[in-house]
Amino acid sequence: MRKVEEREISQAVIRRLPRYYRYLGELLESGVERISSNDLSKRMKVTASQIRQDLNNFGGFGQQGYGYNVKYLYTEIGKILGLENDHNFVIIGAGNLGQALANYSNFENRGFVLKGIFDANPTLKGMSIRNVPVRMMDELNDFIRANDVEIAVLTIPKSVAIEVAKDLVDAGIKAIWNFAHVDLNVPDNVIVENVHLIESLMRLSYNISRYNEEHKLDK
Ligand code: NAI
Repeated sequence: MRKVEEREISQAVIRRLPRYYRYLGELLESGVERISSNDLSKRMKVTASQIRQDLNNFGGFGQQGYGYNVKYLYTEIGKILGLENDHNFVIIGAGNLGQALANYSNFENRGFVLKGIFDANPTLKGMSIRNVPVRMMDELNDFIRANDVEIAVLTIPKSVAIEVAKDLVDAGIKAIWNFAHVDLNVPDNVIVENVHLIESLMRLSYNISRYNEEHKLDK
């Protein structure tokens, strides 16, 4: 059998993996050693067949009559998600959103280590969030190289995001977690994950409308 990491796994499955990882982590914490796809299905409110189909991608995790070995599955999914090693990150833009993210201490529990916070506004110099000082942008290049920084979180206005992303690429950043509402133009070897809370809210709004429509029809 080929190793899990060598298989091509669809993006749809990859998008669902963090949720499996979270549930399995919670099961582990509560001392559960194995779980059937039916039990996992009830907890996650996903059909058992979807779970079997998704986890079959990783061949051999489940056993007939035994279910899934929680620790094994958790570890393997963690490997697929690249979580065995820590990822150092910096936040660019220490405004409302940048500060909120910097204050979130749970990133470290998942292996995402906040190394630095940067901003262009000199009045923010000297401020610290969770003991990480806000630095000015002229230090960024050297800092990224010296601290083995892999990921940059962009929480700056969209008007400057493209230009700053270019500087980050030149500094050797490997990935950008982009909150600015603009598409970045970066080389293929730099990975971008866009996050749009508004899009999530629009999906919520759609589901509210759909629910209301369905319940009107039921009357
Ligand atoms: P903010 O105005 O509070 O903070 C922006 C910070 O970026 C400021 O501290 C400013 O000095 C700094 N900045 C400006 N130009 C810079 C540059 N060239 N280099 C370094 N730092 C620079 O704004 P807020 O509310 O924190 O939002 C930040 C960004 O995140 C905006 O683009 C906003 O649209 C976006 N946003 C995205 C969300 C999402 O779901 N994707 C949710 C909320 C905000």
